[in-house]
Amino acid sequence: MTTEATGTAGATETAEAINRFPAIGVIGAGTMGIGIAEVAASHGHQVLLHDVNAEAAHQALEQMAQRLQKRVDKVRISARQRQEILERIRFVDELDALAKARLVIEAIVENLTIKQGLFQQLEKICPAETIFASNTSSISITAIAASLNEPSRLIGLHFFNPAPVMKLVEVIAGLQSDAALLAAAEQLCLAWGKIPVRAQSTPGFIVNRVARPFYGEPLKMLQEQLASPAVIDTVLRESAGFRMGPFQLMDLIGIDVNFAVSQSVFNAFFNDPRYRPSLIQQEMVAAGLLGRKTGRGFYDYGAEGNDPAPVPYAPPCDQNGTVTIRGHMGLGEPLRGLIRARRCISLMESRGSGYLLAGGCAVVLANGQTATARAREHGYKCLVHVDLALDFAGAKTIALAFSERCEKANRESVIGLFQALGKKVLVVPDEPGLIAMRTVVMLINEAAEAVFTGVCDAEAVDRAMRYGVNYPEGPLAWGRKIGFQHVLQTLEGLQQWFGDDRYRPSAWLRHQVERDSRQTLTERHGHG
Ligand SMILES: NC(=O)c1ccc[n+]([C@@H]2O[C@H](COP(=O)([O-])OP(=O)(O)OC[C@H]3O[C@@H](n4cnc5c(N)ncnc54)[C@H](O)[C@@H]3O)[C@@H](O)[C@H]2O)c1
Repeated sequence: MTTEATGTAGATETAEAINRFPAIGVIGAGTMGIGIAEVAASHGHQVLLHDVNAEAAHQALEQMAQRLQKRVDKVRISARQRQEILERIRFVDELDALAKARLVIEAIVENLTIKQGLFQQLEKICPAETIFASNTSSISITAIAASLNEPSRLIGLHFFNPAPVMKLVEVIAGLQSDAALLAAAEQLCLAWGKIPVRAQSTPGFIVNRVARPFYGEPLKMLQEQLASPAVIDTVLRESAGFRMGPFQLMDLIGIDVNFAVSQSVFNAFFNDPRYRPSLIQQEMVAAGLLGRKTGRGFYDYGAEGNDPAPVPYAPPCDQNGTVTIRGHMGLGEPLRGLIRARRCISLMESRGSGYLLAGGCAVVLANGQTATARAREHGYKCLVHVDLALDFAGAKTIALAFSERCEKANRESVIGLFQALGKKVLVVPDEPGLIAMRTVVMLINEAAEAVFTGVCDAEAVDRAMRYGVNYPEGPLAWGRKIGFQHVLQTLEGLQQWFGDDRYRPSAWLRHQVERDSRQTLTERHGHG
């Protein structure tokens, strides 16, 4: 349990896990297979590498030797280590040579029938104790295993690209997979310095499923003409803390590849609207605008390389008047320190329900209402929605939306306040959830639903998203920081506003909200 939680294994466990598999078979020497072979050989296993295309496999080995040489040049490994790694990998022409392997990892073409045929052959070659693992990204582990006489011996080991670098491995259980084999594979991943997470075989497993809203929601915003790709990317990067914006990332992955995964997950979930693919992507694929690889996608990559798309930041404005902070501002609390540190800003602090007053406006974290509706509901003339930031102290950019009765002077004063705090400001249309909050609550909802439906546990989903796609925070940990009540209300607001079932909140969130309110009541009661 402790080893699983920390992603490390003790020296004895490491040695045991490695010794259990003196020889490992890797089938497919493409992008993933060669990387997996390198990982195994780097940890002392003999690797038997097989591919139908011997020439391609030898080329892949040659490229690996060159990559390892670069690591020697950078003094990351010694020349001797490089030599040992290369000597441990043996290309084998015939599948029969895999009889010695006690674990065979398949990374061949993504096709169910071909994968089934391969494992049927292997079942005749390898002894009963050999574990079979598939690196498939999208095919059901249960379905691959179903063609075997002994389906319990097949599991999923889903590595991420590049396998030697990426820490996450999803350890996937098919319906009939043997729990002891899953545990052994998990121990081996830990011994390899990887971070394994357990998941049940379901479409997209954890990462490829929970990440869908990171593309789907910004694409829907683009379709609704809420903001340009450059604005959406900037907010998600510079406010929400993602390493890359969704449109930049889709351009990098390839819009055709991303569209194909979206379609496959949508079909696999029986057309659930949560995974509905985007018409914009479909049109771009039809036009051959596939991203970086074709020179144009959401952005234009001219001869000069990346063409930085302009972002319409608000021009400089003056902050004037006193700023009042009423009560604890929750996620926005770091703003208090920033304001206090700016001696030129006059600040009043008092008790209250946790908000900020500036330039005659109530400034609050965006939820599932428009700022206009919220202003009306709470009797404010002017209300400003601030989009979600991962860390309000460190965020470079802040997105704001103003209720419709905000005058120019009100707006400028609030923009001026954030600028005085060192932020660039983007003013976006007054839509529920704005950009970052809307995207992140959808990620939280998807993570919650994966847990609610038994795909994985809460800790696994957070670890998977942090280490599989480098999210700045695990979605459920993020939900806890935002407050599950706020997440739930935002989703309900979006569902009502758009009349779209894709926003229906997961029952897991409702359970958390109930639990949190019970706890608050108990605490109040306990404190008399
Ligand atoms: N590329 C990724 O980012 C990525 C990430 C995770 C998982 N995957 C999965 O890993 C698997 C491999 O993907 P890839 O990107 O490495 O593919 P790839 O096209 O780079 O390599 C596949 C290799 O398998 C070989 N091959 C095909 N059929 C074979 C057979 N019947 N027997 C032996 N060798 C065979 C091919 O010659 C090729 O060298 C797929 O199931 C894919 O879904 C890919």
